[in-house]
Amino acid sequence: MDIKTLIKETAAKVEARLNELLPGEDVAPVTLHKAMRYSIFAGGKRIRPLLCLEAAKACGGSADAALNAACALEALHTYTLIHDDLPCMDDDDLRRGRPTNHKVFGEGVAVLAGDALLTEAFAMLARVPANERYDAKDYITEFAFRTGSLNLVGGQVLDLEGEGRQLSVDELRAIHHGKTSALIIASLRLGGMAAGCTAEQLDALTAYGRDLGLAFQIIDDILDVTSSPEVLGKSIGKDAREQKATYPALVGLENARAEARALTAAARADLDVFSARRAENLLAISDYLLKRDY
Ligand code: IPE
Ligand code: IPE
Ligand code: MG
Ligand code: MG
Ligand code: MG
Repeated sequence: MDIKTLIKETAAKVEARLNELLPGEDVAPVTLHKAMRYSIFAGGKRIRPLLCLEAAKACGGSADAALNAACALEALHTYTLIHDDLPCMDDDDLRRGRPTNHKVFGEGVAVLAGDALLTEAFAMLARVPANERYDAKDYITEFAFRTGSLNLVGGQVLDLEGEGRQLSVDELRAIHHGKTSALIIASLRLGGMAAGCTAEQLDALTAYGRDLGLAFQIIDDILDVTSSPEVLGKSIGKDAREQKATYPALVGLENARAEARALTAAARADLDVFSARRAENLLAISDYLLKRDY
């Protein structure tokens, strides 16, 4: 299957399951459930669910075992986007081609829609079946570690504190690792764990996620400079205006592109423990993400 078809089919499957897992728009409080659904069904790329399901397959398991984990990842990711866009954070008006959540529902409901998606994500994760190596306690511990104060939320704090400051490359990497790679690592590891992966497979997925995640955020930084709101579905030029610490700002566009290419090559090499056939889709995803234009 070509990568575009794989992405499309995976997105449809994850969206159908999310629709079953989340309360309907007619369930009280109606405004809250409308706000949660407004952002999650706005058509993101669904990269984290894709990585989760493909990691499960690469480890010899079925994607079905990882489907609730894939939904949990997308629910949590969507919460981070809603909060990231708030006036007290990046103050953005456009997300996934639509006005941001707080522009439509107000700041109070946007904060709470994010809170509810974060909370529901843990309930989704608790429904991932146990296997001979891992159970719900392992999934939840993994997810909480990658998304809490030591990783994702911590990275968002460093991102805020980095505004207007000249950082070292190591400091910038720490921000990008926390705010972006950590959830990408969790996506791959949870897919592997739901498939009952070996310790060697889990290590390989972790290394792949670290390299791929950093490349992903570097490309996100580049697209903020080079893309357009029509293609990207979010505002551009925002990082420079907010004096964000980004790769293009620190090392220039060409060096940032070279770094993304090198990290993608490293990510491919991280998958060496898998057979070529098993790793095929994860390899194709890394190439696709390097060349993406949104
Ligand atoms: C945007 O993530 C936020 C980052 C961590 C860079 P995505 O580029 O995956 O956004 P969606 O889910 O496709 O909207
Ligand atoms: C967002 O990074 C990371 C998280 C939401 C955790 P950015 O602030 O660069 O993401 P965009 O560009 O707004 O999507
Ligand atoms: Mg941000
Ligand atoms: Mg932002
Ligand atoms: Mg960005």
